Amino acid sequence: MQEECQQAAEILRGASSIFVMTGAGVSAESGIPTFRGADGLWRDYSVQDLATPEAFRKNPRLVWEWYRWRQNIIIKAQPNPAHYAVVELERVSEHFLLLTQNVDNLHQRAGSSNVLELHGNIFRVRCSDCGKVSPSPCFAEASCDVPTCECGGLLRPDVVWFGEAIPSTIWTESLDYLNTAQAVVLCGTSGVVWPAAAIPGIAKELGIRSIEINLEPTPFSSTVDVSIMNKAGEVLPRIVKALSTAA
Ligand code: OAD
Repeated sequence: MQEECQQAAEILRGASSIFVMTGAGVSAESGIPTFRGADGLWRDYSVQDLATPEAFRKNPRLVWEWYRWRQNIIIKAQPNPAHYAVVELERVSEHFLLLTQNVDNLHQRAGSSNVLELHGNIFRVRCSDCGKVSPSPCFAEASCDVPTCECGGLLRPDVVWFGEAIPSTIWTESLDYLNTAQAVVLCGTSGVVWPAAAIPGIAKELGIRSIEINLEPTPFSSTVDVSIMNKAGEVLPRIVKALSTAA
């Protein structure tokens, strides 16, 4: 693994602008369940019943119960060495963007500042009628009713559900930045959910060198320049260390 980390550091050293994309795997070592894989949430829970606009229309209480359960896991979790290594990478980079599919806020809690949230944030709510966005109320109380907005509409988690569009400004901003990037790091994502799944291919077409960190192979493992199959919390700090020691 050390040699692969050196290769990754070599790629990053030569890049004045770095694009990092993360997924649930980056928070796994903080104790937050991923969606796919052996213990993934989608093995035991149904996307259709919990993470679609139809599910919320049909049974908002059930959807809220599930989101409060996740909020309670996340609020007790702490950022792990992978999150802190991403902060360090941002600190030493001339230009840096972090695009995360995670809704858990752990990158921001660790100290990352240039972050775009592709799938929203579990600690915000949005009114399903007037669209007003605000901090999530009473998330610690498992028995809360479905919260309502001052306009009377039902508040929903401010996350992107299956069948919903990604906020277009976030996607456009991501692609604009990707166009200028000189290195891409893909960490802890299964790479099967679109449009995030398009990023590795776009990077390849643009001729940007890329590094992947994941426990297991993904659809883009064979096309990246360096693929490191190990825990993000071990690999990312090593890469950052290799970057600083050889600078
Ligand atoms: P997934 O759960 O699909 O994939 C997590 C990936 O992280 C898997 O490929 C694991 O092998 C890897 N992994 C697990 N632990 C790891 C570790 N310690 N270090 C490195 N890698 C590890 O999560 P995402 O790709 O983020 O969307 O999923 C994308 C979207 O699908 C999510 O944002 C969510 C989900 O349904 C919505 O809810 C809209």
